[in-house]
Amino acid sequence: MTKPLLLQIGSFNGHAPADGELAERYEVLEYWKATDKGAFLREHANRIEVIATTANFGCSTEIIAALPKLRAICTWGVGYDKIDLDSAAARKIQVSTTPDVLNDCVADIAWGLLLACARNIGWGDRFVRENHWENKTSSLPLGARVSGKKLGVVGLGRIGEAIARRGLGFDMAVSYHNRKPRTDVPYTYQASLLELARESDFLVLATVGGASTKHLINEEIMRALGPSGRLINIARGSVIDEPAMVRLLSSGELGGAGLDVFEHEPKVPDQLKTLNNVVLMPHVASATHETRRAMTDCVLANLHSMFTQGKLVTPLI
Ligand code: 8YV
Repeated sequence: MTKPLLLQIGSFNGHAPADGELAERYEVLEYWKATDKGAFLREHANRIEVIATTANFGCSTEIIAALPKLRAICTWGVGYDKIDLDSAAARKIQVSTTPDVLNDCVADIAWGLLLACARNIGWGDRFVRENHWENKTSSLPLGARVSGKKLGVVGLGRIGEAIARRGLGFDMAVSYHNRKPRTDVPYTYQASLLELARESDFLVLATVGGASTKHLINEEIMRALGPSGRLINIARGSVIDEPAMVRLLSSGELGGAGLDVFEHEPKVPDQLKTLNNVVLMPHVASATHETRRAMTDCVLANLHSMFTQGKLVTPLI
């Protein structure tokens, strides 16, 4: 029996079994391995109706334009900032992400970064390993209390909500900034992002990436968060003006940062790596066995539904 054909833009190497599971079910054209990508697309253009991709690889304007028969783009991940949604919408190409299955694990990492940053967990770990404790060469500075403080969430979508909910367990006053207030949550809406930064001890970013939020967190916002404020980012690196953040963290005008994402990742500014008031992670907020399994299952379910019924299970548009 012939397998349906799909174009895979990039490897799902964040979940080891995923590429093999795709290949069992589909004839997979591995775009990322093609040396001449334009020629590769031209050669297969008339056969490609469905694309599998990841949040990291996305799907560009050029790829969409090169595929006249394209009907669906199924991405592994919840972010769609690297998919040209306007081109897809203009041609009624369906797009799916893997929503909800990663909310908890991403929220957990946001909290891990927040606690690590406030209580010097990364710094303390280095302090012990480097024998400063044993040799009494120096002491670890005091951290900042977390419980009972003020939490600000920028972007109260499904992940933002999971982050906010955890804040209640820490007896925090939780406020959020969205384009519009929500009527279905017990948190305080703050229409001004600047005010939210001013009043928050911890500002957690859970907004979408892309042009609409580029450098939303600029120097003014970070100055408002201030020397005792901490910035946590599990959204996209592009949301923060990164050079300004590095300057303010270095001078102590911004108290600290816990970062899972970076503006030019995997490139991380060297200066950041020298600072003890930051905690750095390599974009792994969804990287648990359970969540990555669920993400792969969600993509497989979308592909199956597309090929058998012509529609997606978790459509974005
Ligand atoms: C992905 C992510 O694991 O879902 C997203 O948008 O950023 C991560 O969960 C990763 O980027 C896959 O490419």
